[in-house]
Amino acid sequence: RPHLTMNADHGLMLEGVPLAVIAAELGSPCWVYGAETIRTRLAALRAALAKAGLGATDFHYAVKANDHLAILAIMAAAGAGADVVSGGELARARHAGIPASHIVYSGVGKSFRDLQLAVGEGIGQVNVESREELAMLSAVAEAAGRRVDLVLRVNPDVDAKTHAKITTGLAENKFGIAWAEVESVYAYAGSLPGLNPVGLAMHIGSQIVSVEPFDTAFARMAEMIGRLRAAGHTVTRLDCGGGIGISYEDGSGIALDDYAGVMAKHLGSLGLKLMMEPGRWLVGPAGLLLSSVIIAKKTGNRAFLVLDAAMNDLVRPAMYDAWHGIVPVAAADFGTPDMPVDVVGPVCETGDTFAKDRLLPALGPDALVAILDAGAYGAVMSSTYNARPLAAAALVDGDRWTTVTPRQQVTELWSRETVPAWLTETAG
Ligand code: LLP
Repeated sequence: RPHLTMNADHGLMLEGVPLAVIAAELGSPCWVYGAETIRTRLAALRAALAKAGLGATDFHYAVKANDHLAILAIMAAAGAGADVVSGGELARARHAGIPASHIVYSGVGKSFRDLQLAVGEGIGQVNVESREELAMLSAVAEAAGRRVDLVLRVNPDVDAKTHAKITTGLAENKFGIAWAEVESVYAYAGSLPGLNPVGLAMHIGSQIVSVEPFDTAFARMAEMIGRLRAAGHTVTRLDCGGGIGISYEDGSGIALDDYAGVMAKHLGSLGLKLMMEPGRWLVGPAGLLLSSVIIAKKTGNRAFLVLDAAMNDLVRPAMYDAWHGIVPVAAADFGTPDMPVDVVGPVCETGDTFAKDRLLPALGPDALVAILDAGAYGAVMSSTYNARPLAAAALVDGDRWTTVTPRQQVTELWSRETVPAWLTETAG
């Protein structure tokens, strides 16, 4: 993690900023994102593709990974488009300055209203997942007097070998058009008014840490494109989806050159406009969750570190048994790991556990820790469970930093709620 350094004077730093400085001003828990880190990662991905002869690949950042306007602005400035899955994400991407023509709309359940919004804005591409959706999109396009570019998201039935809850490319999953039906659905798309089928899309899952599932899926996509072309269809685009995994624990993760290599091998010579929708790989390692110790407690033979962050802030460990690095922030706390502790949050559920038996130096109340690789699927999945206000967020950019989201006020938790008058009217 080149963007994170342990400085003997300033403690843990993200890019050029000591995290203790941010915590002192913003309090904890708080998210911290590194802008330069994100730019560097996007550049690395582009460079790997260029090296494999795929320099023209068009990036659409998967907004769901982290939809903060500041993150979207970084993507916009770097020339990336957006992959959105709702009218809300579309509105965010547009608000951050990403042109509608550079946005693709994915998702297994797009509402009529959201499709109207997308088509009305002049969306660049809709990734359609069913025959039923084609009929709906055609009606929307006709009513708007537009011709919509679309690709069919197909289900290549490939095991991504990732967590079951984030596997999407198996025949049994709800996503995409079944392999055997792709040709007939493509023909159907071409027969409907207002629709312009231009290619295919795939996305087989997330946090994929080996290249084989991509190798298999790309080969299948190439085969399907050949079949469609042989049947006389025009196929000019392939959206390769997202899914490139990162190294939460050292040693895992995928080598970009390997990914680009299999992409080039199967797809490089087909004369396609290639597209990608990475989310996690771009922003995951660039963010962390700063938290402080409320109390260090011992029960029987177990030691617990109770943090002021909880599963409502970062749900990944509770939801997917995800492993996140946890490191002390103060230089004085760097020392050698002392004993295994369970790192937990204060929410009233056993699942509110960030780590079990984690080796950490002895930490006392108020000690700051950073939960690493929390830039993707972190803040976006937060809730206010246990009436815990949403955490603040800061953006670091080299040596400077600023608050990009203030901590939610407790009164905001109920500011949209009303109590019917009859409940509080006094009798008589
Ligand atoms: N494209 C489509 C159609 C997707 O469904 C997804 C993610 C992406 C792109 C971006 O995938 P990525 O490059 O980030 O792997 N909340 C889960 C991850 C859910 C991923 C959903 N789809 C987690 O925290 O692990």
